[in-house]
Amino acid sequence: MKSISVKLWGLMLGLVFIALALIWCFQIVFLESFYFSIHEKKLLKEGANLVEMIKDNEEQYTIESKLNELLLKYNARIDLYTSNGVIIYSSESAPKSVGVDKNAFLMEIIENKKAISTFKQTNKGSLLLVGLPVIRENVMTAAVVMTVPVASLKETVDTLKEQFVIISLILISVSSILAYVFSKYFTKPILEINNAAKAMAEGNLSVKVSINTADELGMLAGTINHLSSKLQKIEQLRKELIANVSHEFKTPLSLIKGYAETIRDVESLNVDKRSKQLNIIIEESDKLNDMINEILDLSQIQSEYYKLNMTDFRINETIKAVVNRLNYHSENKKLHIKIDYVDDLWVYADERRIEQVLYNLLNNAINHSKQDYSIFIRTIDIDSKIIVEIEDQGDGIPSEEIPYIWDRFYKSRDASANHKGSGLGLAIVKGIMDAHILNFGVESEIGKGSKFWFEITKSA
Ligand SMILES: Nc1ncnc2c1ncn2[C@@H]1O[C@H](COP(=O)(O)OP(=O)(O)OP(=O)(O)O)[C@@H](O)[C@H]1O
Ligand SMILES: [Mg+2]
Repeated sequence: MKSISVKLWGLMLGLVFIALALIWCFQIVFLESFYFSIHEKKLLKEGANLVEMIKDNEEQYTIESKLNELLLKYNARIDLYTSNGVIIYSSESAPKSVGVDKNAFLMEIIENKKAISTFKQTNKGSLLLVGLPVIRENVMTAAVVMTVPVASLKETVDTLKEQFVIISLILISVSSILAYVFSKYFTKPILEINNAAKAMAEGNLSVKVSINTADELGMLAGTINHLSSKLQKIEQLRKELIANVSHEFKTPLSLIKGYAETIRDVESLNVDKRSKQLNIIIEESDKLNDMINEILDLSQIQSEYYKLNMTDFRINETIKAVVNRLNYHSENKKLHIKIDYVDDLWVYADERRIEQVLYNLLNNAINHSKQDYSIFIRTIDIDSKIIVEIEDQGDGIPSEEIPYIWDRFYKSRDASANHKGSGLGLAIVKGIMDAHILNFGVESEIGKGSKFWFEITKSA
């Protein structure tokens, strides 16, 4: 495995070497030729000026001052020749151009009839020779030769080379240190995140990554932490569900087993008792069946892929149907169900699911009402929504319990012994309303009763 530190180190060294190579080229290899060519250009220009002055027959005084200027500025020795090579002027006090064959250079000017330049290496240093012909009406009349000593750059280049070695050493060590620091900075959190993910895969969901940087690694750490808390929550719910389901199943199963055993073992059982016990077995089996159906329903509603079957329907008809379905129970308790609704309201929702909501709420209201009590069902028209209320005069719900009644398997602690619910009804209501993205709630007061309500969207 090639680790990030090795890659980073390679990358940084690569960059350093490119930078050093560029510096080497420009500062050391080409320095001399840059310097010379700049010098050469300048002198060719000065020479051309001088030739113009000669051609224009300027006064001797002007030309002389120009020659003096060149002498001062460049330490240039200037010779003037006729077109056949006879010297006619030579600036005094200028350095002698020892060891240079000026004749050959002059012949070149005469032959080529154009400006030329060359460098000569003598034992006293470099010399730059610039020669220009003076041409009048296509006839060459004279030639100018400028001889300029050029300072050697050898020492400068040597100094630069020494500096270059030092700079290279500093850059390479600094980049190595930086690569090490950076790679530690990057790999440490990555390793930490990797370890956390591994631990999670092995079942330890409570791991947390402690990286608080605001960069992408911090983001990744945040996502891992979020994942761990989500998984923990799911795991917690799963455990609770299994515990609750097994608990709920135990009571009916033990009843069924107990009565079945009695019927098998006790031969003297009279027919009446026997059929009573068989009825209990059937009732408890039905209850188990209902519970399984509710659990399946709930997990279906709560799954992310659950699709609502949205249609337009008359809410009043649905309410009537639910009241009819529960008639048997409400009449048993001699309850008065009072319906007060706005006429002919069309709503848009999943009709079967809304019916389930109404059924669960009305069923609870009936269960928590005493003989001769009243239950009120209302529809209220508000803008684009309709609010459905189901109000009873029952026991009410303690305010500290209200947040939990929507949880699955939640049953009031002091629920009367004869209450045989499984605590899934309101969880199903919540699941259905959440799937519709509609509001719902309860207002309740101990001893006075409860009012459950939910919203539903009007048809367009
Ligand atoms: N109308 C009500 N009056 C008083 N308490 C209520 C009322 N409706 C619900 N509750 C309380 O909320 C709890 C949860 O209700 P939920 O409908 O979810 O379960 P359940 O009625 O016990 O069982 P299930 O509906 O699954 O048969 C109930 O046990 C009860 O304590
Ligand atoms: Mg219920």
